[in-house]
Amino acid sequence: MNLKEIMATSYFLSALLLSMNMGMVMVSGDPYCGPIEADDKDLVHVALNLEFLEAEFFLIAALGNGLDSIAPELAEGGPPPIGARKADLDDLTNRLIEEFGYQEVGHLRSIITTIGGFPRPLLDLSPQNFANLFDQAVGFKLDPPFNPYVNTINYLLASYAIPYVGLVGYVGAIPQLLSYTSRRLVAGLLGVESGQDAILRALLYEKADERVLPYDITVAEFTNYISDLRNRLAMCGIKDEGLIVPLKLGAENKTESNILSADVYSLSYARNPQEILRIVYGSGSECKAGGFFPDGGNGRIAKEFLAKA
Ligand SMILES: *[C@@H]1O[C@H](CO)[C@@H](O)[C@H](O)[C@H]1NC(C)=O
Repeated sequence: MNLKEIMATSYFLSALLLSMNMGMVMVSGDPYCGPIEADDKDLVHVALNLEFLEAEFFLIAALGNGLDSIAPELAEGGPPPIGARKADLDDLTNRLIEEFGYQEVGHLRSIITTIGGFPRPLLDLSPQNFANLFDQAVGFKLDPPFNPYVNTINYLLASYAIPYVGLVGYVGAIPQLLSYTSRRLVAGLLGVESGQDAILRALLYEKADERVLPYDITVAEFTNYISDLRNRLAMCGIKDEGLIVPLKLGAENKTESNILSADVYSLSYARNPQEILRIVYGSGSECKAGGFFPDGGNGRIAKEFLAKA
């Protein structure tokens, strides 16, 4: 087998092997995968949680400090994030991530001024939280534990997880929005989130076949593992694809390179709020907080699910 065939095979084998691990992350019950009825503000508020997450992760990694030193009023008194720190990045990556961080501040500003905000939720951006996520993705305990802040490639892999979840949430939300104002807002947010995702994926794709030292796992394999984990957590089929995929997941079934993750028509996948929360909580349940949001998300939709736990 050549490398691409091995990658394609491992994509499916990983799903199989890791099903042994699933008791840890799954809850019983019927996962709901359809759209939900809610007003525009509540739908955009699900995404506002992710915008806080992205803003802090990018700003602190690039600059060493986050929203509290740049636009503290936007946090509306919410607690500072746990465990983030300046990442050891090459100059190009640092430049891009700093820009992404400021873009997220703009996104927060536009959501808050257009439809109103809420206090920043508690965010866990600690190396331990990422280590848990990556252990869950690969299906065993990485040694040494994965740390997103130690070098460029680790940081890009950790970032691989973030704008993409926002963008599929926006694709899911737009058809549900009633007002011109919120559709205009979310279309604008979607454009930039997908641009960020594309840049991160392109930078990772350049190194797809390289090992992520000191592990015996390549960049492309890590992306497949992370995408696969998110699919399992969200429980609504394949809506997340790594950088090298079997032909049948590639554009027009003609390519195994998969620099953008998209469906059979090369349209972006859509996720509902439950799927988003299952992923970012790392719990596989929209009712069970954890992962990046130890106390859960803010806004009516997230709060109502948490109240059902
Ligand atoms: C690609 O394969 C899928 C099934 O895996 C099929 O549904 C789809 O129509 C195919 N697309 C093209 C362009 O042949």
